[in-house]
Amino acid sequence: MLAAMMTVTTNAQVTAPDWENPAVLGINKLPYHATLQLPSKEKACQEIISLDGEWLFHWSKNPDERPVSFYEMNYDVSQWGKITVPGNWQTQGYGIPIYINIDYPFVKNRPSVTTEPPKDWTAYENRNPVGSYVTFIDVTEEMLGKNLILHFGGVHSAMYVWINGQKVGYSQNSMSPAEFDVTSYLKTGRNKLAVEVYRWSDGSYLEDQDMWRLSGIYRPVQLWVRPLTHISDYQVTAEPNHDYSEAAVKAKVSLCNTGNTDSNGLRAVLKIDGKELKANVAQIASGDTAQVLLNYTINRPHLWSAEKPSLYPFSVELQDEKGTVIEHFDYHLGVKKVEVVGEIFKINGKNVKLRGVNRHDHHPKTGRFVDDATYEQDIRLMKQANINFLRTSHYPDREYLYELCDRWGIYVMDEANHETHGYGYANDVMGNDLAWQQAHVDRAESLVKRDFNHPSIILWSLGNEGGVGPNIEAMYKKVQELDSTRPPFYDSDRRYSVIWDDSYLYPDDLRKNAQTVTDKPFMMREYAHAMGNSMGNLQEYWDVIDADSSICGAAIWDWVDQGLEHDGYYAYGGDFGDQPNDGPFCINGLVAPDRTPHPHYYEVKHVYQPLKFVQEGDSIRIINCNNFTPIDEYEYYLETYYNGELVTGEFARVKGDKFEIPYPYYPYNEPELILNVYARLRQATPWADEGFVVASEQFVLKEMEFWAAIGGNDATPQPSVEGYQAITENGSITISKSGALTSWVVDGREMLQAPLEPYFWKPENDNQHAAHFAERLAVWQDAAQKRTLKTIRAESNKVIVELSLPVGADLTLTYHLKADGRIMVDMNYQPTATDIPLIPKFGMRMRLPADYTSIKYYGRGPWENYPDRKRSAFIGIYETSLKDYETDYVHPQDNGNRCDVRWFEIASPAGKIRIDGNQPLCIRAWDYGEEDLGVRHPNELPRGRFVNLNIDLDIHGVGGADTWGKRTLAPYTIDGNQSHHYSFILNP
Ligand code: GAL
Ligand code: MG
Repeated sequence: MLAAMMTVTTNAQVTAPDWENPAVLGINKLPYHATLQLPSKEKACQEIISLDGEWLFHWSKNPDERPVSFYEMNYDVSQWGKITVPGNWQTQGYGIPIYINIDYPFVKNRPSVTTEPPKDWTAYENRNPVGSYVTFIDVTEEMLGKNLILHFGGVHSAMYVWINGQKVGYSQNSMSPAEFDVTSYLKTGRNKLAVEVYRWSDGSYLEDQDMWRLSGIYRPVQLWVRPLTHISDYQVTAEPNHDYSEAAVKAKVSLCNTGNTDSNGLRAVLKIDGKELKANVAQIASGDTAQVLLNYTINRPHLWSAEKPSLYPFSVELQDEKGTVIEHFDYHLGVKKVEVVGEIFKINGKNVKLRGVNRHDHHPKTGRFVDDATYEQDIRLMKQANINFLRTSHYPDREYLYELCDRWGIYVMDEANHETHGYGYANDVMGNDLAWQQAHVDRAESLVKRDFNHPSIILWSLGNEGGVGPNIEAMYKKVQELDSTRPPFYDSDRRYSVIWDDSYLYPDDLRKNAQTVTDKPFMMREYAHAMGNSMGNLQEYWDVIDADSSICGAAIWDWVDQGLEHDGYYAYGGDFGDQPNDGPFCINGLVAPDRTPHPHYYEVKHVYQPLKFVQEGDSIRIINCNNFTPIDEYEYYLETYYNGELVTGEFARVKGDKFEIPYPYYPYNEPELILNVYARLRQATPWADEGFVVASEQFVLKEMEFWAAIGGNDATPQPSVEGYQAITENGSITISKSGALTSWVVDGREMLQAPLEPYFWKPENDNQHAAHFAERLAVWQDAAQKRTLKTIRAESNKVIVELSLPVGADLTLTYHLKADGRIMVDMNYQPTATDIPLIPKFGMRMRLPADYTSIKYYGRGPWENYPDRKRSAFIGIYETSLKDYETDYVHPQDNGNRCDVRWFEIASPAGKIRIDGNQPLCIRAWDYGEEDLGVRHPNELPRGRFVNLNIDLDIHGVGGADTWGKRTLAPYTIDGNQSHHYSFILNP
């Protein structure tokens, strides 16, 4: 007995466990194959029994503490906790989620994932957590006569499976299905299924994606009850001929006989287009497989594209001699051609532009498990934003997502679950170590095999930020061997990519770099890092992309803020005490974790719109950037506005590609005249109603004439202790010697809670933080506060204050005072030094009592906009609350600006202030101050003590390239070495 135990111990010392052995990718796993039944029709498939639901669960910090023999029949699990399958354990109260970008969350020492880390790492205590799962499966006598397959949609990161105490197998490769033939393990009645999941395995070395590191059985689990002889796989291609007059449908159907006797007289059937194609299979010996080819030609095929996702439903059947259906699966195909011709990327012969986005499979409550409704919401929101390209960064998603892309029309780059960023971008470690080659190839094979039949897929990506070398070459070859209809893509070793990727470039560098690459199409697989308040200069990118036919597109990083619901806020790295972590670097979405669109979502929709409008004299020309949709599939609606008020709304009469601008009569002189043009869907689609606005443009046909002076009776300033005071008809106005408006009393009420005074600081947003905005522009932080008085004097109706700023500039403030309490404020900046840094914002600030929470303004809106991100925000009159005027970013930062404001009203139940610009203004209003923005989450902001109002001429743009150093483009910054001037009128 003792001797036996010692032998075991010795063996354990020399043999690495399967989960730290890169040669063991699975034990007893069935081969990967295509999704057999369309996900939305799974319920109609009688072969599938769902095992999802509440399972029994035990969590251990590390392998030594796990309940080793829990899979045995007599092991008592009745006192265990519960867990919902599918789901991650960290989002259900077990263990600690970790958010980390580039580094591994465990000590890098492959293939070990349990090397001792520093004490403050989460992985020190929780060296490699193990989740032990138990559920029970009811099996009937009848089921036992069939072939029973246990299917796991996705388990992170490695698992062992037992049934009734007997070991069935092992699997890693966490984002692809694992299947086991469990026929011989099951018995009639209740069966115990035990699954032991390891948080980390050697597979984790290939799964170093920038995301929450979550674990468990997070995708559905099914028991397939299959005929002994069944369809094990099928692959259908539908390629059009050279002139698209025909499409050759080729179905390769694999059959396998899992029974003990030969099967005879079977027939594989493909039903498509109202036809039935049959192939007889005389005999399949026990244990054998057979392949059948079925061909069909579609004449004058409807082509599939993201614009026109025409599908041909088909079914694949297995029948016996008499025609009785043994098995039946439903699917669909799309006829399309993907080609790379020299530098041009083509779909169906057209030089399409991929208007893309990257997306992680993320849900704020359920982590890596995303339900069907959220998938539908995501794809609907993408379609509504004119996004036509999705990269499933950085691994295959759940199958239903691809079906939606097929049906609603999105081009997909399907990405293998492969990233080794912890070894460095394009490292020559993991790509060269042949001991890891099979592990790499497994990820390419599982990708292509599962998703082969989705027409939406146009490119297979070998992974993200992985290695270079022979292991990548092997992946590349595997993809080419498996599919000749869609080419491989890879970012880190460009020899193994049909497209040249160079990401996160400035627009100018995109133009230059794309010109130097002459043998391949060019793309930015990631650009416009949408972290926090961001996405400036998007149009600049698309001006470059549209002008160069070799650039096939670009995909925004990324779709959804990866925040996890936690204590009333969205958590990011560090909020669970996770160490090491990368803070809010996972909050980069166009939409919030709950899919509420951010302001920049609308900018994407606008810049990505497939129709552009240009003014040519008295008409507007429509430029159609669609490849497969004529302009008359939309209706064109026109609105004219005078000074922001709607005057007319009518349909345009389009002749050719043009329509005339309506100029309705209006009975007063010289108003601002604005035309809004809307292209609307004539017909409802699965993702939008009839009338949905796909594209729009605004034309300021005649701009507002701003006031330069202020009329009415004057109020006369008198010297006072503070500086100057004027008594008005309804109160008083006080200007201090520091040039601030310190008191403004109207009808017995003080309008100001803090003075109106110059203020040049703008807190950073995430993009600016890494670009060292605060350091570079630091002199401006308290430049206004440190102003010094040169002179102060009064004239009959004004107070003039001359100041100097420590940056080396003169600042003159002139207050024109009116008897009715109005004040015209004028600020003039003259630099005296050279080399003054950029001005964060040019303007003034004041604080109003906290109950000023109703806002109405005439300017750009309704959503937040900044100088480099304002094209989607049309000029109009908007009414909103202070709360909706602000944007609550998951990571609090500068927000809420509105550009080109002509007038702005902010009201409390008791009173109202109106600001009239003498030129367009930028205005931000918050219920907290600049100094409060250092907090981690919006719920920590100390709100409601005052209203912070910034009234500016201009503000530094948000930036739009990346969040690790790139800056706001020069045209959207404010030069400190030039003079600036603005003025506005305060009306009580
Ligand atoms: C990219 C990477 C993404 C993400 C992004 C930063 O380089 O591919 O996975 O990490 O940077 O948010
Ligand atoms: Mg990375």
